[in-house]
Amino acid sequence: MAEPLLQVKNLSVVFGRRRSAFTAVNNVSFDIYRGETFGLVGESGSGKTTIGRAIIRVVPTSSGEVIFDGQKINGSIDRSLDRQVTSRIQMIFQDPMASLNERAKVDYIVSEGIYRKYPKAERERLVEKALADVGLLPEFASRFPHEFSGGQRQRIGIARALIMQPDFIIADEPISALDVSIRAQVLNLLSDLQKQRGLTYLFISHDLSVMRFICDRIAVIHKGVIVELADTEKLFRHPLHPYTRALLSAVPLPDPISEREKLLEVYDPSCHHYETDKPFWTQIEPGHFVHANNEELTLYQKRLEMNP
Ligand SMILES: Nc1ncnc2c1ncn2[C@@H]1O[C@H](COP(=O)(O)OP(=O)(O)OP(=O)(O)O)[C@@H](O)[C@H]1O
Ligand SMILES: [Mg+2]
Repeated sequence: MAEPLLQVKNLSVVFGRRRSAFTAVNNVSFDIYRGETFGLVGESGSGKTTIGRAIIRVVPTSSGEVIFDGQKINGSIDRSLDRQVTSRIQMIFQDPMASLNERAKVDYIVSEGIYRKYPKAERERLVEKALADVGLLPEFASRFPHEFSGGQRQRIGIARALIMQPDFIIADEPISALDVSIRAQVLNLLSDLQKQRGLTYLFISHDLSVMRFICDRIAVIHKGVIVELADTEKLFRHPLHPYTRALLSAVPLPDPISEREKLLEVYDPSCHHYETDKPFWTQIEPGHFVHANNEELTLYQKRLEMNP
């Protein structure tokens, strides 16, 4: 039985107050197992980054719980747990240029998280090791971020996370800003590091074709609500929620003729009688969760029976 490293239970994040209050994340629940790559996919503004930021404690949670390795880490926690979370959970970002301090040398950027922990010589050794781990040369330590290509800068961002010896990494669109030719290299690096160190990933993306390649399980988020969660292949073969189906229908097909003739599905949330028959989050078959009301559940169950 797989063991969860991270559990998110009924988590909500609300920005602003009273009349200007905006619910960016609305009552989401999911577990991430040790050693897996868990994908979070959804359109721009759906709340993906906010979930990542809530987990690393940068954004305050409004309700619900985040449990990491058995301990609750949202809300107020003591200093030693805070320090643990700060090193054990690392985040890497979409735009390596924007997330790296342009005026600092690579050596400082990579060692910032351990700066006060080790003397200079030890830091230098650790930076050199972290750079080697991501395929960069030791002499890069004395250069500035603008001297590197996009792929190299993303490697610097990964080295900066690795030096903290995390067990959980949140990768927020880590390859979206990179040239197509570089993307596979960075994905392979992430996957090798995972195998070598038993890392657990939360991989955030809006690109389902990349997710299919690297994720064990995928959660689909729409306007702050997770609408479906399943094993990757299950989700691709038997998508139930209309929003998942709409997202999948937008993934290009390799064959140009089927691509030209395919129907794009559109998700229209207003056609679901949600006022009288309220939706809820439920497990419809082992490991397959969906956000649906009773009427929809009956329909989905029939679909699964016909097409197991
Ligand atoms: N600090 C904040 N204050 C107010 N609103 C915010 C804040 N951060 C995010 N939001 C809003 O919350 C919603 C979700 O934003 P979030 O950045 O999580 O989306 P996302 O799914 O990561 O989108 P993208 O794919 O564009 O990165 C958006 O409407 C955004 O404007
Ligand atoms: Mg985002």
